[in-house]
Amino acid sequence: MTKIKCVIAAGGLGTRLQEFRQNDKTKILIEVNGTPMINRQIHQIAKWGIEEFIIITNPDFDEIIREVTSKEFPDLNINYSIQESPKGISHAFSKAEKFVNKDDILILVLGDNFFGENPLLDVDFSKLEKNKGSIIFTKEVDNPNEFGVAEVDKNGKVLDIQEKPNNPKSNLAVVGIYIFDHMAMDNINLLKPSKRGEYEITDLINIYINQDKCSNIELSSWWIDAGTPERIIDLETRLL
Ligand code: DAU
Repeated sequence: MTKIKCVIAAGGLGTRLQEFRQNDKTKILIEVNGTPMINRQIHQIAKWGIEEFIIITNPDFDEIIREVTSKEFPDLNINYSIQESPKGISHAFSKAEKFVNKDDILILVLGDNFFGENPLLDVDFSKLEKNKGSIIFTKEVDNPNEFGVAEVDKNGKVLDIQEKPNNPKSNLAVVGIYIFDHMAMDNINLLKPSKRGEYEITDLINIYINQDKCSNIELSSWWIDAGTPERIIDLETRLL
């Protein structure tokens, strides 16, 4: 039976946020309008109708993340898995494998990404269940070089994705929510570390693009990658 499971990547260290609001832990525990970011994230996704979660944590903060989330969501089905060291988003995603069954649909959300509207509203899940593959979500930005960047043709076909390119081929940033079939867990094993030494999420998507199994949904509402102090403050004003 196909199940939809949401993997939240919460294993990074958030080096760009050290010291912000006396943060000596991890970005995912920083309070956003008084609520730890990870709890805001789960509230956001639960509102979209998702019921099963797998949270990927950093070993230093696994215990506290379990405590903070299970206290807030005693009735949700949440599993946890540790990523021993932050070797990239695809590597974090691979740590969900023990909770993944054949035919599951996996929604990967980066713990620090927030959305004005539910991006899943535009997804045809029955088609996805039948045809498998992956879906990326994009948003036009002025600073594409700070994100994964998608090259999409006139018909909306995804041609290529590059991670933080110096010369972006478009201004379509790939935002931090992705949908994959269960084969993602096998495909991750084909990846090699990038030049910066990480198992990149963009490289996993490129495997699907090369198999002609990746489609794109362009977001119409706001999106924030709350990875810097300025963006957290921006997020707080939007959530008010
Ligand atoms: O926000 C969208 C962007 O997110 C995408 O456009 C990029 O393609 C993607 O690589 C990512 O870029 P960032 O530089 O924002 O990624 P960051 O290192 O901040 O990690 C994002 C989240 O993933 C963060 O909440 C922590 C988690 N993470 C990250 C790494 C590197 C892990 O759980 N494990 C990891 O090893």
